[in-house]
Amino acid sequence: MDVLLIGSGGREHAIAWKLKQSPMVTNLYCAPGNAGISSAAECVDIKADDIDSLLKFAIDNKIDLTVVGPEVPLEKGITDLFNKYRLKIFGPQKDAAMLEHSKVFAKDFMKRHNISTAAYNIFNISEKDKLLSFLNETKFPVVLKADGLAAGKGVIICNSFSESELAVKEFFEDKIFGSASNNIVVEDFLEGVEASIFAICDGTDFIILPSSQDHKKINDGDTGKNTGGMGAYSPANKAVTPEVLNKVTTRIIEPVLKNMKAEGKEFKGCLYCGLMIDKNGDPFVIEFNTRFGDPETQAVIPKIKSDLCEMFLASANGNLKNYNLETDDNFYCTVVLASKGYPDKYDTGMEIKGLENIANNELVFHAGTKSINGKIFSSGGRVLNATGSSGVSLLDAINSAYHIAEKLNFQNKYYRNDIGKKGL
Ligand code: AMP
Ligand code: GLY
Repeated sequence: MDVLLIGSGGREHAIAWKLKQSPMVTNLYCAPGNAGISSAAECVDIKADDIDSLLKFAIDNKIDLTVVGPEVPLEKGITDLFNKYRLKIFGPQKDAAMLEHSKVFAKDFMKRHNISTAAYNIFNISEKDKLLSFLNETKFPVVLKADGLAAGKGVIICNSFSESELAVKEFFEDKIFGSASNNIVVEDFLEGVEASIFAICDGTDFIILPSSQDHKKINDGDTGKNTGGMGAYSPANKAVTPEVLNKVTTRIIEPVLKNMKAEGKEFKGCLYCGLMIDKNGDPFVIEFNTRFGDPETQAVIPKIKSDLCEMFLASANGNLKNYNLETDDNFYCTVVLASKGYPDKYDTGMEIKGLENIANNELVFHAGTKSINGKIFSSGGRVLNATGSSGVSLLDAINSAYHIAEKLNFQNKYYRNDIGKKGL
């Protein structure tokens, strides 16, 4: 099969690396890709959100399967478009992807179907005074969320009325996320342990990939600003025990699939459940995403022993029932190497050194890199992912990831020092 992967981050490098190992794959393309992905796939200079050019490429090159990495093309309806042309594609249609690109839809859907999530209220941009008087009387902390896509930055945890006032100003007046914050979800602050569960779905059936845990804050000890994710490990056995996983399956994933189908929004692709697990081991949905998580994917994908291309194809074809997921027993830990200043202002164009010192059993997935005249330079805030594994101990996987991280160098390299610690 000729396969087209869409995206350009660490998540897509991990997916490309694994797809490349599939005996089913003849040619692998990635649009637009990055310097690391180019060692596994032929990079094509088309942006991930240019869905018309992606369609043309898929038709011209007789692509047998397209795999969508990021959320924006899903919101733009790439799956609907490819389906119209009878092209196979892994990822949900636009109306099913609303579970991610409309928090209002996701919250109301969960409420309709009794799926555990934080209590919430929704306010439209025309209801600013009503929202402020609501916040004036509420108990803090509360969480304010932009309804639409905001590159993982549309969530503000407010500890006081004045913080929430500022957040409302940013959302409704400064419009830092444009129309994505025309509606705001205000929800109760949940306490507990966070975990990520990916369910690969075919509309009816699903398989659950190994659990993982992200580290969203920029600094050690989960402090500072929210980021796209600074590191992850898998499996997150301490947080996601077999009992918790059973509750996630019966209380969240099964009702989501059944009710999305009943509402005419059949869900195919990767359902990412961002969970808060409370002290009783009860899981609450913090958010749904409708694609793989980044950087969790970089720690989850290496655990998979079975064929990833076959899994994506089975999801698209609606026959996951016949797919046999095999995983290994190892722990994997991914440390994100970022450019100092991220998630705010940071420099790009720094030369990356040390890649030649990486051993065969060590994994480095590129996030924001580009190649110029044979040299590799940073091109984004999150630059590289060091993924370590040393068998069946999480501590060894963490040590291995940091060993790799120290071998890689670029100016202003920044990383957290405590990735995975919570899982020990
Ligand atoms: P999200 O983009 O929705 O995943 O939110 C980003 C981060 O904000 C999450 O990973 C949580 O750490 C935190 N968060 C979001 N909603 C809540 C909530 N209701 N209670 C506590 N923390 C939350
Ligand atoms: N790791 C968080 C996300 O992918 O949204």
